[in-house]
Formats: sequence, C-alpha cells, structure tokens
Amino acid sequence: MAEALVEVRDLSVDYDSGSGPSVGPEKRKAAIERISFSVGAGEKLALIGANGAGKSTLLLALAGALLPHAGCITIDGVPAGKDTLTQIRQKSGLVFQNPDDQFFMPTVEEDICFGPRNYGVAGEDLKRKLEAVLGMLNIENLKNRSAHRLSGGEKRLAALAGILIMEPPLLLLDEPTSFLDPRSRRGLIRILKSLSQTMIIATHDLDMAQALCSRAVILREGEIAAEGKIDTLLKSSALLEDWGL
Ligand SMILES: Nc1ncnc2c1ncn2[C@@H]1O[C@H](COP(=O)(O)OP(=O)(O)OP(=O)(O)O)[C@@H](O)[C@H]1O
Ligand SMILES: [Mg+2]
Repeated sequence: MAEALVEVRDLSVDYDSGSGPSVGPEKRKAAIERISFSVGAGEKLALIGANGAGKSTLLLALAGALLPHAGCITIDGVPAGKDTLTQIRQKSGLVFQNPDDQFFMPTVEEDICFGPRNYGVAGEDLKRKLEAVLGMLNIENLKNRSAHRLSGGEKRLAALAGILIMEPPLLLLDEPTSFLDPRSRRGLIRILKSLSQTMIIATHDLDMAQALCSRAVILREGEIAAEGKIDTLLKSSALLEDWGL
C-alpha cells in the first residue's frame, strides 16, 4: 500500500457547547468517537454514512477547523493541534457541504483568488491559475458574479474552484455532487478522476463514490461500522439498510 498521507488514531471530536444543563446522567455520545483509519498518498477514499453519522464533522477536523478532543490526526507527517493549524490548513483543502459557508468576497473571481493571494501569488501567475481552474470547471462565465447570487450548482463549482486553485495535497470534499445537474455531475466526476491528489469524499451519491473510490469507510453514529473495498461493502443490501443507507 502507498505511504499514508493521512493517519487518524483513536480520534474523538465534538462540538463544545460547555457542559450545559441538557447533559443528563447518560452522557451524550461525541459526534466522532474513537475512530482510526489511514489514507494512502494518492488514494481516493469514500466516507459514507446516514445523516448525522459524523462525516462533515470528521472532514472539519481533518481540515483543521475542529480540534480533536482525544486521539490524533496526522497529515503528511504533521500532527493536528493548536500550534500546527496553519500547516494543516495548507495541506488540506475542504469544500464545505454548504457552499454558502465558503464565500465572503464580493465576486467569484475575488473569492477564488483570495487563497493564492494570501500566499503571495499575484499578477500573471495568479491570472494563469485562475483561468486554468475556471476552464477546468467550465465556469468562466461566473467570475464577475456575486457568489451569493449563484444557483446551488454554480456555487458548488465556484467553491470547488477556490480550493482547487490552492492545489492542496489533500482534498476534502463534502457532498461534491449535491446541487449539480446530471451533466455538471458527470463533468465533476471526470475532473476528480483526473486529479492525482489524495481525496476524502463524504457523500450519499454511492454511484459517484464507486466511480471514484476503490475503498470506503462507513460511519454510523460517530463510529466506523465498516471499512474496505467499496464494491464489496455496497453489495450487501442488508448491511446498507443496517447502516441507514
Ligand atoms: N455545529 C454543530 N454543533 C453541534 N452539533 C453538531 C453541529 N454540527 C453537527 N452536529 C452534530 O454532530 C453529529 C454529526 O453531524 P455531521 O454533520 O458530522 O453528520 P453528517 O454525517 O455530515 O450528516 P449529513 O449526511 O446530514 O451531512 C450530529 O449528531 C449533528 O447533530
Ligand atoms: Mg454532512
């Protein structure tokens, strides 16, 4: 197996709301509870599970947006922690489940260019990168629009452009095909297939998962219910039912 780019060991992650009065005698389970897995360099891993299973939470932790409560995440040799967040965020690029969470600049172009600009890319270099990513996703027509006034699918593609332009070694994609029309969906699958980066793809789109990934991790209530070859895992309808799929 290829050398691991991502190592997750006994990881627990939760959303801190302090110990409010709603915490009863039987303590509520954490959103992610003691999970371990690894992802090889260049591998595309599907993250599958019912609503609320913990997929987005896990991706947020891998992107350095949530810190582990216990256990550890290592990306490309760097352990995720308060002191390494900048490094972790350079190594992983997350496309959020809700694309609205991704935009904060007045136009799509400015949004896509924000990340590279921050790292000192400018002038012709930046222009070339921008044109390349807009062309790849076939969204040249969106660049002067306001991101908040795009359709769901247009937002999804613009958000993806803002991450791809950074060329992070680890791509974290949360429901990448949601909102996309069939042709855009097929186009996106083709693009993702052609990229050599390591990817973790959280999705309910099992056909897309099978088209892109050879391995899957199935989450159920914050824990790993199964892990292995995706074709084998998705074959058993009884198990799929059991996992809430
Ligand atoms: N911001 C938040 N604050 C508190 N709890 C949250 C928050 N976001 C999610 N949760 C809880 O964490 C658990 C896991 O949620 P998560 O969003 O990771 O699930 P998911 O697998 O991505 O689901 P979906 O398929 O619906 O996107 C759920 O119990 C959810 O209610
Ligand atoms: Mg989610």
